[in-house]
Amino acid sequence: MVDIATTLPAILPLLAFLYVRNFDQSYTVSRNNWDLEYDFIIVGGGSAGAVLANRLSEISDWKILLLEAGGSDNILSDIPLAAASLQQTPIDWAYQIEPQEASCFGLINRRMHWPRGKVLGGSSVLNYMVYIRGNRRDFDNWVRLGNVGWSYEEVLPYFIKSEDNRDPSIAFNGFHGVGGYLTVSSPPDVTPVGLAFPEAGKFLGYPNIDLNGPIQTGWAIPQGTVRRGARCSTSKAFLLPTKDRPNLHVLTFSYVTKILFNEDKRAIGVQFDRFSLTHVVYVRKEVIVSGGSINSPQLLMLSGIGPADHLNAFGIPIIADLPVGNNLHDHIYPGVHFSLEAKGVSIVQRRVVSLPNIIKYFTSGRGPLTIIGGIEGLGFIKTKYANYSDDFPDFQIHLLSGDISSDDGQNFRRVQGITRELYEQYYLPYTSFDSFSFYPVMLHPKSRGFIRLRSTSPYDPPIIDPKYLTHPDDILSMVDAMKICIAGGLTPAYRKFGSKLFSRIIPGCESYPVLSDEYLACQARTYIQTIYHPVGTCRMGPADDERSVVDPELRVLGGVKGLRVVDGSIMPVITSGNTNAPIIMIAEKISDLIKGVQLPPMRFPGGDIKRMSVGQINYTKIYEIFEEAKQEFAALTNMQKRVNK
Ligand SMILES: Cc1cc2nc3c(=O)[nH]c(=O)nc-3n(C[C@H](O)[C@H](O)[C@H](O)COP(=O)(O)OP(=O)(O)OC[C@H]3O[C@@H](n4cnc5c(N)ncnc54)[C@H](O)[C@@H]3O)c2cc1C
Ligand SMILES: *[C@@H]1O[C@H](CO)[C@@H](O)[C@H](O)[C@H]1NC(C)=O
Ligand SMILES: *[C@@H]1O[C@H](CO)[C@@H](O)[C@H](O)[C@H]1NC(C)=O
Repeated sequence: MVDIATTLPAILPLLAFLYVRNFDQSYTVSRNNWDLEYDFIIVGGGSAGAVLANRLSEISDWKILLLEAGGSDNILSDIPLAAASLQQTPIDWAYQIEPQEASCFGLINRRMHWPRGKVLGGSSVLNYMVYIRGNRRDFDNWVRLGNVGWSYEEVLPYFIKSEDNRDPSIAFNGFHGVGGYLTVSSPPDVTPVGLAFPEAGKFLGYPNIDLNGPIQTGWAIPQGTVRRGARCSTSKAFLLPTKDRPNLHVLTFSYVTKILFNEDKRAIGVQFDRFSLTHVVYVRKEVIVSGGSINSPQLLMLSGIGPADHLNAFGIPIIADLPVGNNLHDHIYPGVHFSLEAKGVSIVQRRVVSLPNIIKYFTSGRGPLTIIGGIEGLGFIKTKYANYSDDFPDFQIHLLSGDISSDDGQNFRRVQGITRELYEQYYLPYTSFDSFSFYPVMLHPKSRGFIRLRSTSPYDPPIIDPKYLTHPDDILSMVDAMKICIAGGLTPAYRKFGSKLFSRIIPGCESYPVLSDEYLACQARTYIQTIYHPVGTCRMGPADDERSVVDPELRVLGGVKGLRVVDGSIMPVITSGNTNAPIIMIAEKISDLIKGVQLPPMRFPGGDIKRMSVGQINYTKIYEIFEEAKQEFAALTNMQKRVNK
């Protein structure tokens, strides 16, 4: 929401002062010497890698090496509202996907930007801090796919183990933990537009709930991985407390380019580049790859683990023929935007980034800068394609208390790669308004893409093609979700601020009647964005399933030994929600497995789900409000057409 670069000069003295404070807030210990051999080598210190480094080094007899390609996080990357301004800086891998055939028409070259953290803490340093675990059916479904040990009742203890929930109204409801490393808290200050969100949900029949509690269908102001108003990355949460452990060595700016094997296909070490020298380090027990959903498959393929025909084409000697890089899927959303007649009720950069607010943030951890990436509401909804009787929502509305023009076009537009035409025709007219956006994130996409090597150089970004919206079911449910969003923004809770749907025609969609299904589909194909959850590229599954890359203990298949992949890439199917918390859970659980222990499964604390209200969603009301909006929009465009004549 907020562009740091333009506000930096104003706060420079303050930053100089706070630089000192930085040292007890971020993990800044990086060595320049290391041993020849370790018990475990962890590749990548991101959401998963930081957890593994902490938990494995609890065994003082084990020597652990963590190799991270980036450097340390800092107090600037800690400012929750400034999350988006970290993109396309040196702590971002700054990937771009291949030109899309069925979407991204409003993005430059039809290519979407994919930020990924290149820093200790990984993408948990760039993320928007929303704390969501997913739906219990997600994990039960993993078990149905042959992944023993991953049922909801078996993973719940591992969510709770990490957690230090600071909100007493949530912490003690049976689903949460206190005293863990990861601070989870409710936002200290919420804008009027944020406060209206649960109210809008209730009007449509969605209850206000703990989104990580017994039921998921509902609307609420979300909790974030936030500590005293500032970002709680996995670096801060899990690495900072280990800085005096002599058996954990952390090397930053160390880019692993190859995993080394003996003739028995056992991983014996890795090769890495550091300040333009290449080094080799050996391992006694295991190499654990935690490079994230893009880098992990790339590193495996560079090391000879991947689809045989693809590796043959590059002349890479094959260690194991496995479907690495397949099953790429992600969470995407179209944009539904509203302008407001009221002033001062949402986030507008010019107003919010003020010296008093900056001082407030740094001294008391309060004020608008603590708003997690500008997101102040989450609504798990069911379109007409979801099972009405089940608590398994198919979309997750993210309320952004602003829109793409709320920063006067300084940052959002650039980091999202929006074309000049789309920006100027659709967003620019609203720059001077208070506004908000409903972003319906599609939770269970059917489209699948892939990651492949571009070349044999580890410095060439891989080919990333998520094939967004290529499955026909995806666009249908998305259109229905957009209608629910339109209704949501025009409920009395928002009408009281004078909310109006953006009523410019999306460039390229002129030939369709406004807000018809075709129009909404065109709008979605023109503008979707990732909510940055790519997963699935080193799919977990049973050994006899040809889609599997790792087994349910995350050991690489195909006769390979001493090698695991532990990060977002192992998800066979994406969870219903934001991915940071589940990836932290995955790393917690595997750390225990490596130690040979497991927490006992937890009985579902919520009692009988059937007796619990999942709300009474009033579809009559939803479509009524939507139809009104459609009439209003059509009348407006007809008027504009007459004026233009
Ligand atoms: C902008 C953004 C916003 C997001 N918002 C949210 C949110 O609000 N809530 C939420 O739950 N999730 C969010 N996510 C998603 C979530 O943060 C990620 O899913 C999660 O952090 C990924 O964890 P990971 O361990 O799989 O990979 P990462 O955290 O990306 O870690 C991979 C690490 O490995 C390092 N690495 C990679 N290759 C190598 C190599 N060869 N050698 C050495 N090091 C290497 C990388 O530099 C990185 O540090 C967001 C993500 C982004 C990018
Ligand atoms: C919908 O959900 C209910 C409750 O879980 C279940 O009994 C029913 O079989 C589901 N229907 C379909 C079509 O999947
Ligand atoms: C649903 O909404 C309609 C139209 O607004 C209203 O007439 C009806 O009473 C509502 N139904 C319930 C069950 O609240």
